[in-house]
Amino acid sequence: MSAIYRYRIGKPIQTEAVVQKIPMEKGEIPYFRRIQKLELVKQSADAQEEMAQRDYFMYPLEPNDRIYGLGENVRGINKRGWIYESNCSDDPIHTETKHALYGAHNFFVVDGTKTFGVFLDYPGRLVFDMGYEHTDELRIIPEEWNLELYLIEGGSILEIVKVFRQLVGRSYIPPKWAFGFGQSRWGYQSAEDIRAVVKGYRGHQIPLDSVYLDIDYMEGFKDFTINSERFPDFPEFVEEMRKEHIHLVPIIDAGVKIEEGYPVYEEGVEKGYFCKDEEGNDFVGAVWPGKVHFPDVLNKRARKWFGKKYQFLLEQGIEGFWNDMNEPAIFYSEKRLEQVLKKVRSMKNKNMDMWEVFKFRDLVNGLANNAEDYASFYHRIGSKKVRHDKVHNLYGYHMTRAAGEALEEMEPQKRMLLFSRASYIGMHRYGGIWMGDNQSWWSHLLLNLKMLPSLNMCGFLYTGADLGGFGGDTTEDLLLRWLALGIFTPLMRNHSALGTREQESYQFTQMEVFQKLIGIRYGLMPYLYSEYMKAALRDEMLFLPLAFVYPEDRYAKEVEDQLLVGESIMIAPVYTQNATGRYVYLPEPMKMVRLKSMEEMETQVLEQGHFYVDIALDEVVFFIRPEKIVPYTQASQYMEAAESSEIHVLDFVTDHAEYELYQDDGYTKDYENEEHLKILQVKKTPDRTNGSK
Ligand code: NOJ
Repeated sequence: MSAIYRYRIGKPIQTEAVVQKIPMEKGEIPYFRRIQKLELVKQSADAQEEMAQRDYFMYPLEPNDRIYGLGENVRGINKRGWIYESNCSDDPIHTETKHALYGAHNFFVVDGTKTFGVFLDYPGRLVFDMGYEHTDELRIIPEEWNLELYLIEGGSILEIVKVFRQLVGRSYIPPKWAFGFGQSRWGYQSAEDIRAVVKGYRGHQIPLDSVYLDIDYMEGFKDFTINSERFPDFPEFVEEMRKEHIHLVPIIDAGVKIEEGYPVYEEGVEKGYFCKDEEGNDFVGAVWPGKVHFPDVLNKRARKWFGKKYQFLLEQGIEGFWNDMNEPAIFYSEKRLEQVLKKVRSMKNKNMDMWEVFKFRDLVNGLANNAEDYASFYHRIGSKKVRHDKVHNLYGYHMTRAAGEALEEMEPQKRMLLFSRASYIGMHRYGGIWMGDNQSWWSHLLLNLKMLPSLNMCGFLYTGADLGGFGGDTTEDLLLRWLALGIFTPLMRNHSALGTREQESYQFTQMEVFQKLIGIRYGLMPYLYSEYMKAALRDEMLFLPLAFVYPEDRYAKEVEDQLLVGESIMIAPVYTQNATGRYVYLPEPMKMVRLKSMEEMETQVLEQGHFYVDIALDEVVFFIRPEKIVPYTQASQYMEAAESSEIHVLDFVTDHAEYELYQDDGYTKDYENEEHLKILQVKKTPDRTNGSK
């Protein structure tokens, strides 16, 4: 039995995260105690100190309590023992020392002595102290006491998650081609560069469905423009790529360049659709093109206006977008830069000692994404003027909502690819997210895995990390290992930063291995697509921690480097350099499947327990659960080519089992049609196997 309770405190700003109407409860919030004004605790000199002076909600943690959720953030699947912030941040160094990444996902489940879920619908900065200050206290510390709190009870974690997901509405569903492999890099300068990428892939028969256009395709980093010198006749180029079965996916940035004669800028100014500063002037920040204004996507009209701008690219044949820098990232504000330059000038000719060097450094480093800047501009929400910092976590959500709503209006029947960097729960209905600027670090491969179930809990199903790592130089083995995980993530994209080692598959020596590994993604698509669609349509998770499925198993509860993917598969990727395999825990007997390609497979039944499993660089290993089925097909060069391929099954069935295969055209939105679901059956008799391996 599940139940959901809604509480309101103060006068919250409506975020539109929730889609169900839940009656408001009166009286005390169960489980939590509100603690008034804590004394200042001694801590490192950063923002936590300031937060520690505020009122907070407290839940006493028992030693056996575990905490799951919080979507995109650092550290483990079990979030206990650290302090996390919901404060959408443009921060490319995702180390364990951090507290926030790009998303603000305020949903978590406590599982232990009591099991319950909590969603804080609050768009400002929010701190979750998950047993950091006191190991036996969970504290929720909002910046202001204007929020809604939803408390969810249920018989299991999975039931609670499902109730929450129903509360916040159906997750975004991309077109099927967006499950194909994508190549991206900041620095592809021209149509010629893109052609070379496509040639590199097609020439070596490495599957590919999309190439991403980073900021370099624009004219002077201006949204909704195309550099016509480097991309002459863009619509024709888009068409040329479509003939090669490649989708081009351009980036859109939050900041609109300030430039006379640039229509998006001029229109925005004229209509009053940009965020305003204290004096009522259009707020000036700076990003890639230099000075910009930020469209006030929290204002309904401005949102509609900005969304319509995507039409410019739709008309040229584009079918997918990624929204970037929408925390929003601000390199500097016009006002702050002036102040800082003044202070820096005053330091000229000084013999700077340590303290002054620190001050100097802080001045310059503090220019970007400064909290004071976020508190110096305003949105218009309905008839109210709202300071940005109070709704900071909604900006990326509403930018993507702008695009999502407009695309829906312009192309009601067609699925579009759309994903964002910054997000808040609610945005999962309009698009996916990628995990931002990770690094070419082995630890980030593992972080990628750990974030998947937390994101799914919060509704973000279409997600993935920059495979190979965005910052820093990747290595061939890191990329191969990362691809072996990426095969299972809905967004499977290799992306890297300007100036780093080139990391397209064909840049390395073992071309055939890349070809086969990426081919496995396409081969497993009947399963992966079915599981994605069922998870989205039924408000369920695609990636599950073992703890959610085997709650009675004390080993399973602690596993942080294996996941269940859908109903049939468990994955255990290698994330250590030079490792030739890894330890794997099987909570029940499973059939191990070892693939070098869709044609070269071996299987072996393993009993429940701990194993060391050899996994070579050119292999993908996964495990099939008892009485489960995995449909597959042959590898292909792109999604469309796989459509008519025959479906086979892998299984670990001893008697009789069924699998619901979901198949649709992958492009239109007729999701619920019952004809899309086919039942696959495997029946075993002692001396005969029916179509199964
Ligand atoms: C930041 C994004 O996170 C990254 O993916 C992109 O390459 C750069 N911006 C440049 O657009």
